[in-house]
Amino acid sequence: MRHFLQIDGLSTKDLHHILDTTESFTSIDDRAVKKVPLLRGKTIVNLFFEPSTRTRTTFELAAKRLSADVLNINIATSATTKGESLLDTLFNLQAMNSDMFIVRHPESGAAEFISNYVDSHVSVINAGDGRHAHPTQAMLDMFTIRKHYKEFSKLRVAIVGDILHSRVARSQIEALNILGAKEIRVIAPRTLLPANVAQLGVEVFQNCKEGLFNVDVVIMLRLQKERMQGGFIPSEHEYFQLYGLTPERLAIAKPNAIVMHPGPINRGVEISSEVADGPQSVILQQVKYGIAVRMAILSLAMSSADENGGGN
Ligand code: CP
Repeated sequence: MRHFLQIDGLSTKDLHHILDTTESFTSIDDRAVKKVPLLRGKTIVNLFFEPSTRTRTTFELAAKRLSADVLNINIATSATTKGESLLDTLFNLQAMNSDMFIVRHPESGAAEFISNYVDSHVSVINAGDGRHAHPTQAMLDMFTIRKHYKEFSKLRVAIVGDILHSRVARSQIEALNILGAKEIRVIAPRTLLPANVAQLGVEVFQNCKEGLFNVDVVIMLRLQKERMQGGFIPSEHEYFQLYGLTPERLAIAKPNAIVMHPGPINRGVEISSEVADGPQSVILQQVKYGIAVRMAILSLAMSSADENGGGN
């Protein structure tokens, strides 16, 4: 895995290998000196063409904890604003002997596009492209689930909200199917479901009462307004009345069901504060595990890149 672009195409063994490698990195977070020398001398470029809080910072922390040098390119103040193309930006950064690009872009396929143009020793990691994929988010979600439940094959997982515009949901569904989850449910109004939703290997519900019944994991999604053109819901107030996760609605799931959300959360739109801050919420654990998951993915990708002709 020199590049890490999507979950689709990976095997059960691949995903467990990433999760096992992540486990070995979690203890670094508890050390006084949170650093290992695995990527010393490597240069990693955070190339984010879209806003991000969690993904960009946890990739930066992951790279620094592996002792890499990190460049954070601020696209708003870069030469992109003077008309420089994506590829010219890439080639210039590559000329600085960069070893890895972590790419977030509003266009689906942007990370794969970039991966076709980098040198053979350079890795590209997809940090979220359009509606297509957010594979490192899906892996940190799988890691969080595995920390709470031993076997995916016994789990019923509900993903609730804006499935249509969600790259996170797509990657989560792929990962849950590969890991053999017992049942994957999506719960959303018809307007927020993709046309091919049934082909994704999920059970479809438009009603929370039915969809949340007896599930072990509830994953909430925000309304991704930046990808919506036109009105998909009557109002946020009405959406919350029908789909917002309240304590009463969460009580339909299994008593100890965990509540997840990739963030950013919109309180009072898809989730109430009582649930987001409540005892079943693992939302901040997801963020914490994001560092170890990204350390695992960076180190595995760099190791493949080195085998492909890189190295110090
Ligand atoms: N989950 C996620 O991708 O959050 P950010 O947009 O803050 O990176």
